[in-house]
Amino acid sequence: MARDISELVSKLTLEEKASLCSGLDFWHTKAVDRLGIPSVMVSDGPHGLRKQDMKADHLGFNESIKAVCFPAGCALACSFDRDLARELGETLGDECQAQDVAVLLGPAVNIKRSPLCGRNFEYLSEDPFLASRIAGSHIAGVQSKNVGTSIKHFAANNQEYRRMTSSSELDERTLREIYLAAFEEAIKEGRPDTVMCSYNRINGVFAAENERLLTKILRDEWGFSGYVMSDWGAVNNRVEGLKAGLDLEMPSSNGVTDREIVEAVRSGKLAERVLDASVARILEKVFKFADNRKEGNFDLEKHDALAGRIAEESAVLLKNNGLLPLDPAKAGEVLYVGQFAKKPRYQGGGSSHINSFRVTGALKASAEIAPGVRWVEGFKTDSDAEDPALAAEALAAAKQAKTVVIFAGLPDSYESEGYDRAHMRLPENQNRLIAEILKVRPETAVVLHNGSPVEMPWASGAAAILEAYLGGQAVGRATSRILFGLANPSGKLAESFPLKLEDTPCFIDFPGDGKTAQYKEGVFVGYRWYDKRKMDVLFPFGHGLSYTSFAYSGLKTDKTSITDGETLFVSVDVENTGKREGKETVQLYVRDTTGSAVRPVRELKGFAKVHLKPGEKKTVSFALDKRAFAWYSQELGDWYAAPGEYAVEIGRSSRDIEASVSVMRNTSQRLPFHVDLNTTIEEILADERTAAVLKPMLDKMEEMFKGGGGEAANEAITPAMINAMIANFPLRA
Ligand code: BGC
Repeated sequence: MARDISELVSKLTLEEKASLCSGLDFWHTKAVDRLGIPSVMVSDGPHGLRKQDMKADHLGFNESIKAVCFPAGCALACSFDRDLARELGETLGDECQAQDVAVLLGPAVNIKRSPLCGRNFEYLSEDPFLASRIAGSHIAGVQSKNVGTSIKHFAANNQEYRRMTSSSELDERTLREIYLAAFEEAIKEGRPDTVMCSYNRINGVFAAENERLLTKILRDEWGFSGYVMSDWGAVNNRVEGLKAGLDLEMPSSNGVTDREIVEAVRSGKLAERVLDASVARILEKVFKFADNRKEGNFDLEKHDALAGRIAEESAVLLKNNGLLPLDPAKAGEVLYVGQFAKKPRYQGGGSSHINSFRVTGALKASAEIAPGVRWVEGFKTDSDAEDPALAAEALAAAKQAKTVVIFAGLPDSYESEGYDRAHMRLPENQNRLIAEILKVRPETAVVLHNGSPVEMPWASGAAAILEAYLGGQAVGRATSRILFGLANPSGKLAESFPLKLEDTPCFIDFPGDGKTAQYKEGVFVGYRWYDKRKMDVLFPFGHGLSYTSFAYSGLKTDKTSITDGETLFVSVDVENTGKREGKETVQLYVRDTTGSAVRPVRELKGFAKVHLKPGEKKTVSFALDKRAFAWYSQELGDWYAAPGEYAVEIGRSSRDIEASVSVMRNTSQRLPFHVDLNTTIEEILADERTAAVLKPMLDKMEEMFKGGGGEAANEAITPAMINAMIANFPLRA
């Protein structure tokens, strides 16, 4: 049924309109019964359904309904698989329809600026290209079921410390290229019904009342047509928020801010048409859901199976000297160490916490696929202190076993919404036990359960390392299947693993002084930082091993030179040269060698995951438009791809480039150049538009300097010096 929303808005009283702009309670919008406007429910999100029935809160204190916990964002992004993200979205959409939930609060795409951010486990990547593409597919999947999404937290919300007041201070280029870019393509392509603004300020202005962000960029530039809701309690000044483009305040304000809105309209401080526009945007989506309800049930078992499949596709084999896969026939020689093998750490704390209907541990899963695996506890997971008896028992058992798999990871208390991590280490008792076991049993693999990178002082001694992340309720099954070779790992890191915390880009500035967080590293986040500074990392962005091997060949482009309106098509062949079927993620990076700006060494601009049987070869194609080459020029107020040469690189990771091809770009776009009396001669000569004016005068000056003084003068004033001095002269000189 096509509804006339503007007619409906015209029938509402001022009080009713104001009331629709804030929540009824924690999770519902308000109804207006006399006009048939229903109340609809929103729920977290992002990696499962956290529908609270009775007591509501946004921090996960109270129980929600039993549901399926899928791998958290940190894991999902490592799948580098857009189809899988879409499938997850569709599945969550079905769950929402069955549970009468109109909007799933997610995905969460904030950039992992520091490994210490407490919520990194929910977020996707340090790279905006990857984050936005995975999020776009996730959104499209959920919304294909006529359920809305709320991409969050918009924007520059990259720490938990003082998240409700701190101001993220960053320049326009950094904001556009890194922090907004994570949202931009996801919003343009996925078209989420709603966007959730963040708690923090951006350059002093609260996200919840940031007109540039919520209206100019989001709606005018990107064409977003849904409604903006606040994060829970993010509203500072309701009327200013409404003017800026914040439509729905969540949760309920108990009528307080509704009255403020009414008062502001009556006193002329707020134009009623601003309120009308917000109400219309909200109602549009409320009815989109209400008019497309599809009641039914969902199959928990089927969704649990998908959770396991995503966990398998997302786990990253960081290191393997040949120990893995283990032989199921020899499971009796294998020892699992650690409580996490029984009770994995599979999700993080806070608003995304799912009440899982079942959790599968790796030990239990192994009993089905490789019976006979033995287990010892080894260490307490809720303490940093060594338990000598447990450690001694583990060491003795490790000596007896042929192969050991240690299940290590971060305890719940180490990472959660609400606070940041204090350091990047595993608990001391775990590091110590791993090192001790490696001494007596080098045939040891370490499985990690954590939401963001940890230092690994023992990495060089481990025979294999499998990063399982917070892989959802079925992670144990996925882990055992990978360990015993029933699944071939294919995850790639969606973030760099630095060697130590001190190496990280914002080590000095994170999390700031409580009032501000200065993003001084600029666009050099994650691999952009480590690559530019030629720093060693523990494992680079994009890294991930397989049980088979892949060969690349035949990289080609359809043109050797392109201009702004054109698309460059790139293709490369990938062949499975090993003995097992497997999946490879082909990564495409662009390197700018024009010198037009200080830019990262390379940036991810394409990725594709391909499944290959042994001996099979496939061609993977990419399409690159202007944006793939461009940086954001604040002066221009636009994206700019300078004329000149670029390299298109194909890699297995950001540090393992297999092939490269160069391409020339042309553009009629020019950066603005403002000349005043303090513009230098060098700057003027560097720009073709002004060089022509100055050149004749300079030639004369050069004549003047030529052959003037004697030998002593020539020694004192060399041509290089004259040139440098002239170059640095401002026009006024
Ligand atoms: C979180 C959001 C969440 C909301 C509702 C807030 O504390 O920041 O991500 O969607 O609560 O639970």
